[in-house]
Amino acid sequence: MVSLKVKLANLKLRNPTILASGIFGFTLPLLKRAYDEGAGAVISKSLGLTAREGYKNPTIVKVDCGYVNAIGLSNPGYEEFYRELVEFKEEFDLIVSIFAEDEEGFKTIVGKLDKSMVRAFELNLSCPHVEKVGSEIGEDKELVYKIVKACKRVSKKPLFVKLPPLPSSLLIEVALAAQEAEADGITAINTIKALVIDSELGKPILSNKFGGLSGPALKPIALRCVYELYEAINIPIIGCGGISNGKDALEFLLAGAKAFQIGTALAFKDLSIFKDICFEISNYLERKGFKELEDIVGRAH
Ligand SMILES: Cc1cc2nc3c(=O)[nH]c(=O)nc-3n(C[C@H](O)[C@H](O)[C@H](O)COP(=O)(O)O)c2cc1C
Repeated sequence: MVSLKVKLANLKLRNPTILASGIFGFTLPLLKRAYDEGAGAVISKSLGLTAREGYKNPTIVKVDCGYVNAIGLSNPGYEEFYRELVEFKEEFDLIVSIFAEDEEGFKTIVGKLDKSMVRAFELNLSCPHVEKVGSEIGEDKELVYKIVKACKRVSKKPLFVKLPPLPSSLLIEVALAAQEAEADGITAINTIKALVIDSELGKPILSNKFGGLSGPALKPIALRCVYELYEAINIPIIGCGGISNGKDALEFLLAGAKAFQIGTALAFKDLSIFKDICFEISNYLERKGFKELEDIVGRAH
């Protein structure tokens, strides 16, 4: 089998599959289980400065082409999660996702978690259904620059910036600002702001009204973002959005992603998805005569 090892800045992964943020929460045994089942790395749900309950139910609804969710960034707060990390003795390739309002908030959390076994950070600058801590941050290139710079001052661990599905020119401007501030990679993309209405009730279904659309509907948009980013930046790109099999994953690699995340697909597939996708990619590489994964990254350009 062709080796699928991949290097994202100085983060070495045994394969390019990554569990997306928000799917297995903060439950370390569950995150570890996804890793043991074959994921190259796993990402926690987004962690904030203080504990946050999130929105009332309903928080997730199925639509034809995926799911629309508005969980509301529920989390235990960074100090509680740090305690859990220290008590959990086992190490694995865990990336922690972080949200905050400004550079001070991000810096505080990254600085504290830098002392734990966490391998890397993903800055969530892209949640489409929260105020002050959501996608408006990811649309502001000056703020993105300040946040990344502040985090890089307190940690040498790799730092990835997760962007919303922005229009082309803004997407590039923000990604370049992150790169200039020495981000180690860009994750593209988070969910897209969406609305679901129950026609009988005549009302929106989610308690927050708006949510984020994930799943297959997202794939062509996410691919467009990865493709455009590849032509503009020279730090690694991590693709995310609607990946549920090897063919989807290959499309992201060909567009320019070095690794990719899997989220919603776990609602209808089991944890063998990580190994299955690796198997499909290896077969493709062998069949086409490529020696390593890197040979196909960006090949669609
Ligand atoms: C229920 C749910 C919760 C999520 N929570 C987070 C989160 O806390 N932080 C984050 O950055 N993304 C979150 N996401 C977005 C995913 O990480 C991912 O970017 C998105 O779902 C697109 O990938 P997919 O189509 O493979 O699901 C969440 C997605 C879902 C479905």
